[in-house]
Amino acid sequence: MSAASVLKAIDRSRFDVVPLAISKAGKWLPESQSASLLSAGKAADSSVVVVDDPANDGTPIGSPGSSLIGFNGPTGPMRGVDVVFPVLHGPFGEDGTVQGLLELSGIAYVGSGVLGSALGMDKVKMKEVLAFHGLPVVDWRSFRRWQWRQERDRVVSESECFGYPCFVKPANLGSSIGVSKAKHRTELVTALAEAFRHDEKVIVEPAIDAREIEVGVLGNHHPRASIAGEIVPSNEFYDYAAKYLDGKSELHIPASLTETDAAEVRELAVRAFTALECSGLARADFFLDRQTGKWFVNELNTMPGFTSISMYPKLWEASGLSYPDLISELIDLAVSRREERHGSIG
Ligand SMILES: Nc1ncnc2c1ncn2[C@@H]1O[C@H](COP(=O)(O)OP(=O)(O)O)[C@@H](O)[C@H]1O
Ligand SMILES: [Mg+2]
Repeated sequence: MSAASVLKAIDRSRFDVVPLAISKAGKWLPESQSASLLSAGKAADSSVVVVDDPANDGTPIGSPGSSLIGFNGPTGPMRGVDVVFPVLHGPFGEDGTVQGLLELSGIAYVGSGVLGSALGMDKVKMKEVLAFHGLPVVDWRSFRRWQWRQERDRVVSESECFGYPCFVKPANLGSSIGVSKAKHRTELVTALAEAFRHDEKVIVEPAIDAREIEVGVLGNHHPRASIAGEIVPSNEFYDYAAKYLDGKSELHIPASLTETDAAEVRELAVRAFTALECSGLARADFFLDRQTGKWFVNELNTMPGFTSISMYPKLWEASGLSYPDLISELIDLAVSRREERHGSIG
């Protein structure tokens, strides 16, 4: 949906656009198939943007015979491409892997590099780095799947150190997939089992009774923060259904905050972006504790939802930057980042 939205809005007077879709099976579809999959009409059906293993002649990257030279060579999927806008969410898209491929290929790309993307994906490493930089994060414990298999009782009792309710999440995922709120031991055990189904590493946190505030960050070395927005989830927390299915969650832009809080959260957003070495864009998500008034950085999303009605673009629109201009600026930032990385000193 995000990719279709970008295709629709991108400034065609500046950019020649080559659509490229990747199937769930990992096939990079040829341009003609990608174009029809990503065409605005079809994208209205959210099930069609990514397809399951279609019969096609796409070149699977990493398959025998494929090479990086082929990747942006005369017949590869990236032939003649100057900049890639990887509108991809989650593992193998937003986690530094595709970014590494583009890095090796020498093609400029929108968004964070390998390190920033990888840190943004891993909830544990992200918190470690944020905490190191003095940013407020919710306390956490993390466990590996082998521990869950071999030392289940210890994992459960250590997870209980925060009391109830607590949150259990896969360390590397997103979209609230595999995320549960546990109110007692039975729910905790179910929640851990569910999270370990999705990931080999799991994170447990105390539940914060919080408002959920989000800030857009844009830039490379001198990132700037958008105004803040608030999510009011339709469910007990912002789970998958509340995010994507029931259409009842509310976005409030701007968030109703005191001037001090609004300024503080924007400053925290930029500090978090810098601490994680993000570039281009990220949406910084916060909890504002209703009991204490304290801010916590929950997470940074290095490729946030990017349809024209998603939070990130809407925050910028409300801050005075239109959706098409946002896309152009991100592409300019990608080019200047590449030039800087490959340019000579001085
Ligand atoms: N410690 C917490 N306290 C309160 N709510 C939480 C906590 N952790 C997660 N949540 C709820 O779960 C949602 C998804 O968790 P999040 O960490 O943002 O993972 P994802 O990467 O899947 O978006 C949050 O938007 C929030 O509603
Ligand atoms: Mg989230």
